[in-house]
Amino acid sequence: MTDVHVAGVGMTKFGSSPERTARDMFAQAAGEAFDDSGVSPDAIEELFYGNFMGEFAETQGHQGPLMADAAGISAPATRIESACASSGVAVRYGVNHVRSGAADVVLVGGAERMKNLSTPDGTRALSAAADALYEVNAGVTFPGAYSLMANSYFDEFGGTREDLAHIAVKNHANAVENDLAQFNRAIEVEDVLEAPTVSAPFGLYDCSPMSDGAAAAVLMSEEFVQDQGIETDVKITGVGQGSDSLALQDRVSIPRTPAAVEAGETAYEDAGVGPDDIDVAEVHDCFTIAEALALESLGFYEPGEAITAAREGETTIDGNLPVNLSGGLKAKGHPVGATGCAQISELTKLLRGDHVNSEAVSDAEVGLTHNAGGTVASCVVHILEEVDA
Ligand code: COA
Repeated sequence: MTDVHVAGVGMTKFGSSPERTARDMFAQAAGEAFDDSGVSPDAIEELFYGNFMGEFAETQGHQGPLMADAAGISAPATRIESACASSGVAVRYGVNHVRSGAADVVLVGGAERMKNLSTPDGTRALSAAADALYEVNAGVTFPGAYSLMANSYFDEFGGTREDLAHIAVKNHANAVENDLAQFNRAIEVEDVLEAPTVSAPFGLYDCSPMSDGAAAAVLMSEEFVQDQGIETDVKITGVGQGSDSLALQDRVSIPRTPAAVEAGETAYEDAGVGPDDIDVAEVHDCFTIAEALALESLGFYEPGEAITAAREGETTIDGNLPVNLSGGLKAKGHPVGATGCAQISELTKLLRGDHVNSEAVSDAEVGLTHNAGGTVASCVVHILEEVDA
């Protein structure tokens, strides 16, 4: 199977830009990815684009061709929707498309506009990723659903709010120098514990924010890179995706995420690596507990053991496995349809050495991204490796 190179990446600053349309943001991210890869929009043979809530935020459907047009390309374009995993899944489709031999050069990415909505309207829009019949009708929101997961985790395995607070503190610290992040502000454990409650046990700093933003990447086949003499630094060597029941009530265990286990095992096997080979990871910390659940599902920790990883310094910037050096969803921001591809963008830069936090992982050769939809009813994992490693 051909290797798939990440030839170029682009990303807007995440945060609050309520005056910018999704097409405007995606055009910027795609333009940066073209510049970074050295190809023109004419070279693109297919676009896979992720977006979740465009119908709510902009009354805009049919976004495949809309975003191709915005990016200046005339290739076939398909929108992918998988809640907060929309653009992670779009990347997977792009990788598989190149691997199948159907194309040599594809554009993948996503965008989301959220800050033009009030928080209640944004919360309502996001709840469409939960089970409408059994969860949304009962009043469940995403902070509510993940707080159920956190409380179940505490009941089953133990752990405290303070353990969770260390995850937020770590991710805010990682984002301080990241110009693309929504929050460049360090926080202390006390800030997390004293913040207003959103849904117990979560306070403000246990939650990712509402965000505007876009991300894009140009993927290329090995043959194209060789034939054209293009130099790249990073390739995607493993992909995996998993599914689970939408509603928490239908799951065997609420604080476990088997869709992520499936996605991780498939991606590891695909790349021929295992958890011990991963040097750096970007995982889907939409709420603090989600980072612990991800690390356990990906085989870095046994169930019940990742809750203290940040607190004990194992996942901090100088730890054994730095996690979310971008700031994660918590501090980099979470424009949901852009998040999965933004993880690819940030990890590519971390591995090739032009990320503000690259120095901390200068020996890193293999990285992983984990992008989840809903309460991990969908999950996609990618393994990235340095080309000359
Ligand atoms: N972390 C840190 N600071 C945050 C924040 C967050 N998650 N959300 C908002 N803030 C800050 C804002 O920057 C603002 O600061 P300022 O006063 O210094 O400008 C302040 O808090 C108030 O912002 P506002 O947008 O009015 O907050 P809010 O109370 O309306 O919303 C949440 C806060 C946590 C409820 C909202 O961000 C949220 O719902 N997050 C979850 C999003 C989600 O579910 N995503 C899908 C995941 S599956």
